[in-house]
Amino acid sequence: MTQAPVNVTVTGAAGQIGYALLFRIASGQLLGPDTPVKLRLLEIPQAVKAAEGTAMELEDGAFPLLAGTDIFDNPKQAFEGANVALLVGARPRTKGMERGDLLEANGGIFKPQGEAINAGAADDIKVLVVGNPANTNALIAQQHAPDVPAERFTAMTRLDHNRALAQLAKKLGVSVADIKKMTIWGNHSATQYPDVFHAEVAGKNAAEAVNDETWLAEDFIPTVAKRGAAIIEARGASSAASAASAAIDHVHTWVNGTAEGDWTSMAVPSDGSYGVPEGLISSFPVTTKNGKYEIVQGLELNEFSRTRIDASVAELSEERDAVRSLGLI
Ligand code: NAD
Ligand code: LMR
Repeated sequence: MTQAPVNVTVTGAAGQIGYALLFRIASGQLLGPDTPVKLRLLEIPQAVKAAEGTAMELEDGAFPLLAGTDIFDNPKQAFEGANVALLVGARPRTKGMERGDLLEANGGIFKPQGEAINAGAADDIKVLVVGNPANTNALIAQQHAPDVPAERFTAMTRLDHNRALAQLAKKLGVSVADIKKMTIWGNHSATQYPDVFHAEVAGKNAAEAVNDETWLAEDFIPTVAKRGAAIIEARGASSAASAASAAIDHVHTWVNGTAEGDWTSMAVPSDGSYGVPEGLISSFPVTTKNGKYEIVQGLELNEFSRTRIDASVAELSEERDAVRSLGLI
């Protein structure tokens, strides 16, 4: 090993995404084949034993890049020195729970985690929130970490991006690798807008290649936006390995850069681009280079896109208002 290990804190480490995620981090797929990692796992006290079992399995994987695994039930300790934080653990919606209850329960998780990141994370900390409602949970954590640059808090829409690539590739009979410049706009929820109008398939415009607005409106968009619910229906549990895979992709792209002539989708704090109110953590097309991302500028949005982006952004504004009125930010 040529460099000091990078500290990667993972919350909800004993959950189903955690189980799919940790082994891929340990194998080097998060940061690259030359970067050793040290895992710092955060769980609630009742799940620490299960996390210890996973840590035993990580040890048994004999991963050359894994420099150690520590387990905590205290956020302050878990985020101490963290360079990358994957906030996966969240309170799932249970029967009879209203949206306000869900936001409040998650406020109880993401507020102290934001404070802990503020208090002890490394200067180069990068945060990805996976736990739902991901965009607003990221906002809560960010608002409690005033000393960390706001743009370091991001939420995951890469799973939606990957789902959109897969659906479009299937429709056009091409490989996902032939598709560039896919975009997810807005919230990681059923209001999200997967946009193919700027996407390219083997160098041609994807919307022109599809040439079927009815398919876009009635098939593609709802299939991508409601895929999470369809997986829950089929599997009896929410997506786990695909979500873990998307989390790996998100951080890998953030750290290692987007390919020339392509971009990705990340939910990031808006700077007002495309009329998205400043500060909302909303999904945009972004390019990344040298560990930094930039929102792609200058895309023309047609009426079809504008209406759908506005609807998803309105939902994000409502969520922000709700957590404000609960005193969570
Ligand atoms: P899970 O219930 O299997 O695991 C969640 C884990 O988080 C549990 O082990 C739990 O003990 C832990 N946890 C709860 N509160 C915690 C806290 N305060 N600190 C640390 N750990 C805590 O759930 P999962 O299937 O792994 O999913 C995790 C989250 O990811 C859910 O909110 C799910 O909705 C979300 N998700 C997001 C996406 C996305 O694309 N953004 C995709 C799939 C799932
Ligand atoms: C997904 O997109 O698969 C998840 O966010 C679904 C969910 O509600 O957990």
